[in-house]
This record gives sequence, C-alpha cells and structure tokens, in this order.
Amino acid sequence: MKILVTGGTGYIGSHTVVELSHAGYDVLIADNYSNSKPEALNRTRQLCPGSVEFEYCDLRDKYATDSLFKKGDIDAVIHFAGLKAVGESVTIPLKYYENNLFSSINLLNSMAKFGVGKMVFSSSATVYGNPHALPIVEDFPVQTTNPYGATKLIIENIMKDVQAADKSFSFSLLRYFNPIGAHPSGLIGEDPNGIPNNLFPYVAKVAGGKLPHVNVYGNDYSTEDGTGVRDYIHVVDLAKGHLFALDQLFEESGIFTYNLGTGRGYSVLEVISAFEKACGHEIPYKIAPRRGGDIDACYADTSLAFEKLGWKAELDIEDMCRDGWNFQVLNPNGYPDA
Ligand code: NAD
Ligand code: UFG
Repeated sequence: MKILVTGGTGYIGSHTVVELSHAGYDVLIADNYSNSKPEALNRTRQLCPGSVEFEYCDLRDKYATDSLFKKGDIDAVIHFAGLKAVGESVTIPLKYYENNLFSSINLLNSMAKFGVGKMVFSSSATVYGNPHALPIVEDFPVQTTNPYGATKLIIENIMKDVQAADKSFSFSLLRYFNPIGAHPSGLIGEDPNGIPNNLFPYVAKVAGGKLPHVNVYGNDYSTEDGTGVRDYIHVVDLAKGHLFALDQLFEESGIFTYNLGTGRGYSVLEVISAFEKACGHEIPYKIAPRRGGDIDACYADTSLAFEKLGWKAELDIEDMCRDGWNFQVLNPNGYPDA
C-alpha cells in the first residue's frame, strides 16, 4: 500500500515516513522544501527499509497536486505540509492563510477527483486556545488566538463539511501537543531556520553552546514553579500515532478527532533541568517577560486515542532530551545544505 505524505521532509513528516516504511508501506513524499532541506530526504531514506519516492511539489499549485495522483496508486494521504510559525502568522497572516488553506483545498479536490478517500491531518492543540479546564478533552470548545491556529481550525471544519457531504471520505484529525526530540539514530531531527522560536530546540542550541542562555518567558504563571507547562511528546511516539490513525481509516468510515500527547505536563524549568541531565552540564537561563499569547498550562487527556486506536505515548522526558541532545551533538548546525 502506498501513502502520500505531504510535508514528508519536515520534522514530524520525516519521522513518520520512517515508521511507515518499517510497517511495510510504500511512501510518496510531496514537499516544496519551503521549511526543509534535501538532506532530510537523504537521511530519511537511509532509515527506511522500503521505497520512498519524492516529488517536488508546491501544493498551492493544483495541477502539480493533481499530478501526484495520476499514477493511481495512492491508498491514503497524511497531510503534514503547512507553515507553522505562530509569531510569523501574526505579522504575515495572508502567507499562512494562502499556504495552509490553498494547499489543503487543492489536496482535497485532487483526492475527490482521483477517488482517494482517506486522509490523516496534522492539527494542533492550539485549536483549544486557552482551555477552561485541564486535561484537555477532544470535545472542549475550540477557539483560536492567531492566524496559524485559525488555519488549523478552518481546515478541520472544511474536512468536516467535505466528509458530511461525501461519505466516501474518512478523515482523522490529529491534534498534536508539543512534539520534541529526534530519531534515536541522530540522523533526523528538528532543524529550525535561524533562531528557534520553540523552547526545546532553543534549549538544545544553548546546551550545544550555539546560543548564550535560554530566555524563560515568565515565572508568574499559575503553575507550580510559575513557568509555562506543556505536554511534550517524543516525535517518534507522535509519528507512530499516525499509523494507528491510518489503521482505523482502513477499517472504519467517518471522521475522527484525537489528542496526541502524553497526558503529562512539564514546566519550562523542568524541561531545562531534564535537558541538563541529558547533556551533563548546566544550561544558563534568564527569567524574561512573558511572551504575548502564551497560556499558563496545556496538557492532553489522551484516553480517547488509547480507547479507539490502542495508541499511547511510550517515551518519557528523559528519552526526549537524550535523543534531542544526540541530534544536537551529531548535527551542531542542523542539516547541511545540499
Ligand atoms: P515542518 O515545517 O518541519 O514540516 C512541514 C513541511 O511542509 C516542510 O517540509 C515544508 O517544506 C512543507 N510545506 C509547507 N508548505 C508547503 C506547500 N505549500 N507545498 C509543499 N510542501 C509544503 O513542520 P512540522 O513540525 O513537521 O509540522 C508538520 C505539521 O504538523 C504542520 O502542519 C504543523 O502545523 C503541524 N503541527 C506541528 C507542531 C509542532 O510543534 N511541530 C504542533 C502542532 C501541529
Ligand atoms: N518558552 C520559553 N522560552 C523560549 C521558548 C518558549 O520560556 O525561548 C516557553 C513558552 O513561554 C511556553 C513553553 O516554553 O511556556 C513552550 O513554548 P513553545 O514555543 O515551545 O511551544 P508552544 O506551546 O507555545 O507552541 C507549540 C507550537 C504551536 C502549537 C502548540 C500546541 O509552536 O504551533 O505548541 O501544539 F500550536
């Protein structure tokens, strides 16, 4: 069986391609390298026992998107492609609406045209906004606080409308919490452009001596140590979750929504301390003002994914830090350019 993986040279996509290949799937990756490098593809292929095809494709181009399906051999789609920088989405909203919405609409149109009905979509815990209670359950109200989050919610709603109108579609909406870490081989991992926005890659760069200190954005949140709490999940656990979601789509029709997290929250200071254990030295940090738009705490109720898919995260914060540090040590400047 062949799976089309859009955004398959990106962080989560590349790890998922490896898991798909080990499970016996053939893979066609479609990516425009807008936030990834060809070296990610080379390394992903090194980790895959099976065939991994690649098609350079900007999904905003509907003709290029159609051409991915022309051979008629795609059985299902996993749709990772999208822009994801929350801050940039606030300053350049149209870039996000154009990229994320046009790509998803083109993909759905091509799927309808070529009779491919199954798709797993990368949504985000950001759709819960500032949750009224914790842990977060899938039926909590959704609200968005930035254009990036709005694109995720709009795409979820488009998929719900499309599936309601045409029952030959079956979709899985996966709301990821905070993916971190890297493949244990150290070959693939997160390689953000420039200075990272997210905590974990920033901490890894400080630990590796590439940045002087971590800015801890606020220590007056209503959490145990005052710093923000998030549900960090190992990217390999997250990648595996997609295979469980696919299995369901091959067995059952409908539209399904799942939280993918560990169900356990860690504060910024706890993450720094866990990373210190992994790298074996102190990581300098300074308390800085709060970052606009951040919430106190966010962690998942993961029982639905376990009940319906039989999936749960297996790896803990020590594994995440060990593998993240290994990737940093082996790739101090990220992936080399082609
Ligand atoms: P990433 O940027 O590493 O990967 C996304 C990939 O999509 C990149 O390789 C990029 O080149 C490609 N892409 C973007 N626009 C494209 C287009 N128009 N045509 C073809 N390819 C295109 O991001 P990631 O961390 O792997 O995230 C994957 C998905 O998961 C994204 O949709 C993201 O919004 C979502 N998500 C990520 C996180 C996170 O913290 N990493 C959390 C929740 C949801
Ligand atoms: N933080 C710092 N210093 C930094 C970066 C972050 O203290 O340099 C803090 C933040 O204030 C927050 C926590 O670390 O308390 C986590 O921040 P991240 O930027 O790593 O992650 P977010 O939870 O803000 O957002 C991420 C993705 C979103 C996604 C969300 C939920 O960036 O796209 O997880 O999945 F929607």
